[in-house]
Amino acid sequence: MHCTKCHNEASIYIRRHNTAFCKEHFIEYIYGQVEKAIKKYKMFEKNDQILVAVSGGKDSLALWDILISLGYKADGLHIDLGISEYSEKSKETVKKFAESKNLKLHIISIKDLYGLGIKEIAHKNRKTPCATCGVIKRYIMNLAAMELKYNVIATGHNLDDESATLLGNILHWQIDYLKAHSPILLEDEVGFARKVKPLYRVSEYETSAYCIMKKIEYIIDECPMSIDAQSLKYKEILNIIERDSPGTKEQFYFGFLEKGKIYFSPEKRDIKLNNCKICGQPTTSEICGFCRQMTKANLEPLRIKEFVIKLKDSYGQI
Ligand code: AMP
Ligand code: FES
Ligand code: ZN
Ligand code: ZN
Repeated sequence: MHCTKCHNEASIYIRRHNTAFCKEHFIEYIYGQVEKAIKKYKMFEKNDQILVAVSGGKDSLALWDILISLGYKADGLHIDLGISEYSEKSKETVKKFAESKNLKLHIISIKDLYGLGIKEIAHKNRKTPCATCGVIKRYIMNLAAMELKYNVIATGHNLDDESATLLGNILHWQIDYLKAHSPILLEDEVGFARKVKPLYRVSEYETSAYCIMKKIEYIIDECPMSIDAQSLKYKEILNIIERDSPGTKEQFYFGFLEKGKIYFSPEKRDIKLNNCKICGQPTTSEICGFCRQMTKANLEPLRIKEFVIKLKDSYGQI
């Protein structure tokens, strides 16, 4: 098979586009898809300070590499969740990548701050680890972006993640989630950092191929606590359909953004936000979900904020 662009021998075949690329033109194709996503949703500009949330997996490491290669200013944020060997390996992988490229990386470790990992906190809190983890990750990402003065936080969610989430939300008619769903979130709500997903046009297969071609080491293991996650089942179902009809996943997701979403009332949400009585972050209740969760587990919610403020002071100007 030959590269559609230069006719040299191809390294990869993208079935849904019926296109083959050599290494050089595949990388160019990925850059093109990411630039298209950034421009279409006005995610950020070259002079914005971007904080990339990097887990150590292929997607977020590929995203960080792509943004830097395209000339954007992007620092990394890794949240060490204290999930035994998996978190240790994740942290080391992210550190190694940052050091090899001389990039700035902020690490916030739950275990160092509380002496407990996500599993133990979830147990104290009588919630599932994934639910606890989701609240903690979202809180830390926003807090770090706001306190450390980044304009935007970027995550590595890809086409497979987004189409699986969409399928789940449709199957359960989660109307509020369908209304809010977008590759760019909270762009104008005070107290929240803008959140963007520049890889929404790129599949999981393509991010792993990108890492292999660019020799980026990433951790292959999934979080040991998410093995049964429903989203993995939805991904599997979409992959079965995609095998028979290449392009369905893209049509499903892009179709929702372009044609379907409008039916889920695009008007501005009229939600009144207060400042959390404990930490000051915006919330719809008196106390935010994170502070409620930590208080229930008998843990001091402000410890993370104090750590991030110290981190800021230790850098001076970012
Ligand atoms: P997940 O929720 O595990 O599917 O991850 C989605 C995205 O969230 C990843 O692509 C990362 O951008 C970000 N993320 C997940 N886990 C972490 C972590 N431990 N530290 C920093 N960012 C993370
Ligand atoms: Fe959060 Fe696994 S990554 S529970
Ligand atoms: Zn080529
Ligand atoms: Zn709070």
